[in-house]
Amino acid sequence: MNVCIIGTGYVGLTTGACLAYLGHQVSCIDTDAAKISRLRAGDVPIYEPYLQELLEIARPHIEFSTDYRSGLAAAEVVFIAVGTPPNPDGGPDLRYVCAAAEGIGEYYEGEFVVVVNKSTVPIGSGNWVESILRESFQRYRGRQANGRFAVASNPEFLREGTAIYDTLYPDRVVIGAENAHALEVLYTLYRPILDQSFTAPPFLTRPEEMSAVPLVSTDLSSAELVKYAANAFLALKISYINEIGRLAGKVGADILQVARGIGLDTRIGSRFLQPGVGWGGSCFGKDTAALLATASEYNLRMPIVQAARDVNRHQRDLVIERLLDELRILKGRTIGLLGLAFKPQTDDLRDAPAVEIVQKLIDRGARVKVHDPVAMNRFRQEQPQLAALRSATPEECVQFCDAVVLMTEWPQYLEMNWSQLATLMEKPLILDARYALDPVRVGRAGFRYTTLDRWNPAPARLAAATAGALA
Ligand code: UDX
Repeated sequence: MNVCIIGTGYVGLTTGACLAYLGHQVSCIDTDAAKISRLRAGDVPIYEPYLQELLEIARPHIEFSTDYRSGLAAAEVVFIAVGTPPNPDGGPDLRYVCAAAEGIGEYYEGEFVVVVNKSTVPIGSGNWVESILRESFQRYRGRQANGRFAVASNPEFLREGTAIYDTLYPDRVVIGAENAHALEVLYTLYRPILDQSFTAPPFLTRPEEMSAVPLVSTDLSSAELVKYAANAFLALKISYINEIGRLAGKVGADILQVARGIGLDTRIGSRFLQPGVGWGGSCFGKDTAALLATASEYNLRMPIVQAARDVNRHQRDLVIERLLDELRILKGRTIGLLGLAFKPQTDDLRDAPAVEIVQKLIDRGARVKVHDPVAMNRFRQEQPQLAALRSATPEECVQFCDAVVLMTEWPQYLEMNWSQLATLMEKPLILDARYALDPVRVGRAGFRYTTLDRWNPAPARLAAATAGALA
């Protein structure tokens, strides 16, 4: 099929690369000319594992342009995948979605096209986009659009860092459409994924248990709500385990064992129960805020979603509280942060807890050193006002620090030579804000190990391990 994708961010580019890989003919449009020239030159402007490799294979089927007219010329499906950054009031800024819809209305010259909202838009936006398409078409063509545009909602559930995997091997595909023809078109588009009939890329083999992918076909508003409800649920799962983690610290329980103990109940599930500094990134904060904003338009309170947000905010404060507990005074201290990205395998710093913590530490008069395996450039470009010392290596970051905080659980940090790192600090202290390090191992390396809930499970684990060895 001929597909046009407007917006070449994480979602648009991944979707475009995957659809082109499946054999569709994809035209990606972005108003950012610099980005388009980089993409044309084969340069991928974001860090996303396997995206470059997939684009290389898909190259004969994908093109990049700033020109709506050429991109839309043969399109049977157009995806709107532009950014919806948060407004100060919590609702998403829909200006780019509006501009994309106006552009489609202005330049589309064919008889029928399905316009898909891939951006996360407030509930009810499907109808709104459709009216913009019609009005724009009429304004520029001087005649009615007459059923030329059918709007559908097709929310994405891809995680940064595993975006290609999530797109090719999804748990489900959700399509909200009120026009039967639009549903048919999208069914045909996604068929290779739904049937899993495509040849898996060599670097991302199909999971063994993978069979046909369920298609959830709904009306427009339901599909839009699915996206918000899914993200809010995942967010509150994280906040729930963090809340339990605080209690675990008080009663001397090991939150990781508690998480495992509850997660193995298949009704609960073990994913998204990793305690730590809480969620960041472009989705959970924005989507929970948007959900509350929509609810308030209907005079509805959503106390559970609100509580998830409050707990998440508090987890970030806990980092400072724990450092104060340990060091008493932060003024003049040197704190090293390992990891800046909101999670491993991405260079995305949107709503990254580490960025906020750098600011909080600087506000308290601390000297802050930072390191991240991939997000250093982005940090320099996006946060020029933050006077943190950027370290080229984790060792440089740790050296002469009063405390080190593990902010992002990059695998390379977990495998570091902690004994050698301990020699670089006068009193080696590590605050594991992701509960990702082995407390026994870093303890043996010479570090005082602590976590956000304060309890150090190392002695208990060491005792259990020793008892096991004796038995
Ligand atoms: C999320 C959703 O997972 C995805 O379906 C949606 O389309 C976009 O938003 P993403 O933001 O890329 O994806 O990251 P995700 O892997 O969900 O992690 C979000 C944040 O939660 C990260 O900061 C991560 O560190 C944190 N997290 C995740 C936890 O603190 N604990 C967990 O158990 C899981």
